[in-house]
Amino acid sequence: MKRFPVILDCDPGVDDAVAILLAKQLPELDVRAITTVAGNVEVEKTYANAHRILHVAKWEVPVYMGAARPLIGTQVTATGIHGADGLGGVEVPGAAIPPVPEERAWDVIYREAVAAGGALELIAVGPLTNLAIAFAKYRELPKLIRRIVIMGGAATLGNTTPAAEFNIYADPEAAEMVFQSGVPVHMVGLDVTLKSYLTASEIDAIAALGSEQAKFFHGILQNVLAFSTKLGLPGVSMHDPAAVLYAVDASLFQAEEAGVHVECKGSITRGKTVTDLYSDAQFEKNAYVVTEVDRPAFVERVKTLLARYA
Ligand code: RIB
Ligand code: CA
Repeated sequence: MKRFPVILDCDPGVDDAVAILLAKQLPELDVRAITTVAGNVEVEKTYANAHRILHVAKWEVPVYMGAARPLIGTQVTATGIHGADGLGGVEVPGAAIPPVPEERAWDVIYREAVAAGGALELIAVGPLTNLAIAFAKYRELPKLIRRIVIMGGAATLGNTTPAAEFNIYADPEAAEMVFQSGVPVHMVGLDVTLKSYLTASEIDAIAALGSEQAKFFHGILQNVLAFSTKLGLPGVSMHDPAAVLYAVDASLFQAEEAGVHVECKGSITRGKTVTDLYSDAQFEKNAYVVTEVDRPAFVERVKTLLARYA
């Protein structure tokens, strides 16, 4: 088993919460810090939610706050899916929320990258503002990051608009900076996360595991399950958990190398990850686009990991 240092950058967010629950049970991940960013809900809430989720997981990881708004555009949130609180209305009594540390997310990313001597990987499952600021502030940072795995974008789909996935749409300029940073980006986008879903009965089966964490998992997903069902989807897309599981075991997935640029100017296409799989344009291949998942194996892996909570 190869254990490697990572920073989990996120905007909890109910699927971010599941990703954190899974990350604790993955010994391959040496999670050096959780950094939070404005996204699904405001940054004060994503910071507090990260602590609430760690309280449920009974896991101690340093949490840092990052950007409160995108680099240039106007802030968007996803409270319709995640709830105004960001955790589907589920309360976590007894979770103490410490004061926000002085050190900001982008400085923590750099500090940990230097400490890891080039081995650090970033798993980013929210808007990419923190990573972009880190790259802008520390010009040598790309040389110190081994790989970036994002939940974001799509070669062919959009969820916030017909062209754009939420994390990219929320800060397209930041996303373009990350894709052009020189660090290989593994894009776990909607192409695969819409296939990485859990049905209502699969969610219920996990709840039946009976642990406090399994019940929390079930509770925070009810709002998004109702939303997904109303849309006629077969279940709840485990967007962020797919990125975490991919980072540890890509054998459940298929990916192909491609060139990706983020559209930042289009009035209709702003936030689109323009993905060149085989065009004459021949974009420089700066990314791996994850396109397929072995869904039964994915579901089994999620259940097995959550079953590790006694
Ligand atoms: O489009 C899905 C992504 O946007 C997920 O990361 C979800 O948490 C939201 O941030
Ligand atoms: Ca997220």
